Amino acid sequence: MVELQAVMRVSDEAKLQAEVLVQALPYIQRWSGAIFVIKYGGAAMHENGLAAQVMQDVVLMHCVGIRPVIVHGGGPEISELMKRVGKQPQFVGGLRITDAETMELVEMALTGKTNPRLVALIQQQGGRAIGLSGKDGGLIRARKLEGEVDLGFVGEVESISPEVIHAALQAGYIPVISPVAMDAQGATYNLNADFAAGALAGALGAAKFILMTDVPGVLSDPDDPTSLISELSREQAQRMLENGRVSGGMIPKLQACLDALARGCPRAHIIDGRIPHALLIEVFTDAGIGTMIR
Ligand SMILES: Nc1ncnc2c1ncn2[C@@H]1O[C@H](COP(=O)(O)OP(=O)(O)OP(=O)(O)O)[C@@H](O)[C@H]1O
Ligand SMILES: [Mg+2]
Repeated sequence: MVELQAVMRVSDEAKLQAEVLVQALPYIQRWSGAIFVIKYGGAAMHENGLAAQVMQDVVLMHCVGIRPVIVHGGGPEISELMKRVGKQPQFVGGLRITDAETMELVEMALTGKTNPRLVALIQQQGGRAIGLSGKDGGLIRARKLEGEVDLGFVGEVESISPEVIHAALQAGYIPVISPVAMDAQGATYNLNADFAAGALAGALGAAKFILMTDVPGVLSDPDDPTSLISELSREQAQRMLENGRVSGGMIPKLQACLDALARGCPRAHIIDGRIPHALLIEVFTDAGIGTMIR
């Protein structure tokens, strides 16, 4: 009798699992074949367990026919490396002031450490990942970002040559991209990962641009996590930037979303990468988390 109950329990669980899978069917049908550009923020990948779970979600999406392209940040890892060699990180408008020595540290941290770490996590979950920087295959051509303040080797995207990504996707790989790129003279630049990802989402014709960060989304009061704005039009996002209602790392994020939309990507989402399976919730359910901009 006890054994029979156990069997029934297991079978109820299995039924539930089957139902959950079937509920995902319309989403799988809708998104199969689509390219999603996913910007994974350094701020939300600190815990190794969490990053492993996020990469598992990416592998699952890939298995059902979605073509994920990961662009990663690595702010905390860069800052840690800087402090180790006695340099104090400084930011202006959410962008890191990058002198020549800092540029070397940025490349070490992003292309040398964070990138292979994410590749390894994908490989460990049975996915096939290929790590690239913006330099590889001439993917991203950068130029120095000019502004009121000289930020040093902070670059902006001049152009994107997406062939290497299409080749990797075609061959069944999940590209993992670090936001480091060269200008026409071969100088290396530190790109904000949000900007790089937004430009890539446009150039790749992504169906979705998803930014995973360490806050619930765009907050009307940055100190109040319950003040989430769940949807923004382009005009509203533009106004938030102009009114100074977003600060720090949220500035490049909103600008990147607007850039991706301007380049033809139909929707951008800023979601909380600390929530377990945030990606799956966003892609395979109607729950809709974070902030959507369209
Ligand atoms: N209005 C706002 N709503 C939400 N977050 C805001 C707002 N204004 C400023 N922020 C800040 O933006 C931060 C997210 O950007 P940040 O650059 O720190 O992380 P990231 O981009 O995910 O990581 P990385 O830069 O390493 O790729 C939040 O932690 C928050 O402090
Ligand atoms: Mg950032």
